Amino acid sequence: MSHPALKMRAMLDDRDWVVDAFSRIRDGTERLAAQLHPEDMAIQAMPDASPTKWHLAHTTWFFEEFILKAFEPDFAPHHEAYGYLFNSYYDGVGPRWARPDRGLLSRPTVADVFGYREAVTRRTRELIERSGESDWAAIAPILELGLHHEQQHQELICTDIKYALSLNPIAPTAFASPEPRPTIANDPETDDIAWVSFNGGLFEFGADGADFHFDNEGPRRRAYLDDFELAATPVTNGDFLAFINDGGYDDPRLWLSDGWDWRKARAATRPLYWRSSDNGWSEFTLHGERPLDRAAPASHLSAYEAFAYATWAGARAPTEFELELATLTAHDGAAEFLDPHAIGGGGRAHPTPVARPAAGKVGGLAGGVWEWTTSAYAAYPGYSPPDGAIGEYNGKFMSSQLTLRGGSCLTPEGHWRPTYRNFFPPAAQWQCAGLRLARGPVALRV
Ligand SMILES: [Fe+2]
Repeated sequence: MSHPALKMRAMLDDRDWVVDAFSRIRDGTERLAAQLHPEDMAIQAMPDASPTKWHLAHTTWFFEEFILKAFEPDFAPHHEAYGYLFNSYYDGVGPRWARPDRGLLSRPTVADVFGYREAVTRRTRELIERSGESDWAAIAPILELGLHHEQQHQELICTDIKYALSLNPIAPTAFASPEPRPTIANDPETDDIAWVSFNGGLFEFGADGADFHFDNEGPRRRAYLDDFELAATPVTNGDFLAFINDGGYDDPRLWLSDGWDWRKARAATRPLYWRSSDNGWSEFTLHGERPLDRAAPASHLSAYEAFAYATWAGARAPTEFELELATLTAHDGAAEFLDPHAIGGGGRAHPTPVARPAAGKVGGLAGGVWEWTTSAYAAYPGYSPPDGAIGEYNGKFMSSQLTLRGGSCLTPEGHWRPTYRNFFPPAAQWQCAGLRLARGPVALRV
């Protein structure tokens, strides 16, 4: 089992608990990497997808740069060049190696990077155990951010190596086969959509500060919603196949202008990891190439594909606040997140079918697939990033991206919360993102 949710901010006063959480999350990253070969860990298949080795080092650099450098007595860097190599995008920290060229670094070796991890983990653990109360008050929130940052990169390790291995014609397996997926009572592929109705009104959204949250989830804000409906389950592979078979990729009326340009430029005819052969449809997964599970949520869709599907289906994608309201008021409680410690031992890193929930409830809101929304990734009223370089974490990316909600099966357990806002450009396909249909505003009740 994985560690209890890190969002228990009050637990930061219990240093034994923090050491345990820190050690377990650092170890979880290494468990994922242990499934791979050193040659896997070095490759970079596109600028957006970094090598596993870089993720292993960058998450380590975060603790070294923002905690050890500031608070460790007689600090000295583990290696003079690592700050330059493994800074991701913090201009306030200094210059950095170019992102598209991360795959060119055969040195430091994977072994060097594991040595870096071990040293910084040990030094950080000692600081947690030995720092005075005033230092600890400053360290604790940065450490908590660093652990959530590490969990974000656990998801990126999965999505990035999946993309890289998908380009290999021998279709390598990243993670050992999982236990068989659970069977569900209703097959979402063949069921009609169950719609759940929500009354509109003025609601409060966003993080209240009691638990951990990223800066972009606050401050609390109000938003007015019209009446709307949400599908009780996400769009399935079977649903999406009907869109393909109906010529959805060939009908420009279904696509946004940018989306149609994107579709033509890529000659896209199917989701990123789908393949067809004489044996029918298959899908490349982290567990190897598998027959397409038509009842499972469609995944690795760009927002353009998701929105074209929604238009074809006579519906639309939801807003981020519609999904947050549903998560807070109608979630069926089921969740499907990543347990890094279970990968290789039967654990799953691919979405499974979402069971139809009880009437009035919504399933698949926690994990499974991220859900594209039509909401621009923008600041909430009153938002201001934190002072210093750490303020670059989220705020400077608030342009030309869309918000995704709900987490995925590659999001580590304990990392997600209902106010969580992920964000990617609409063309991004390599994240485990799908879609839930929405309708309205309409006169839902008389
Ligand atoms: Fe990062």
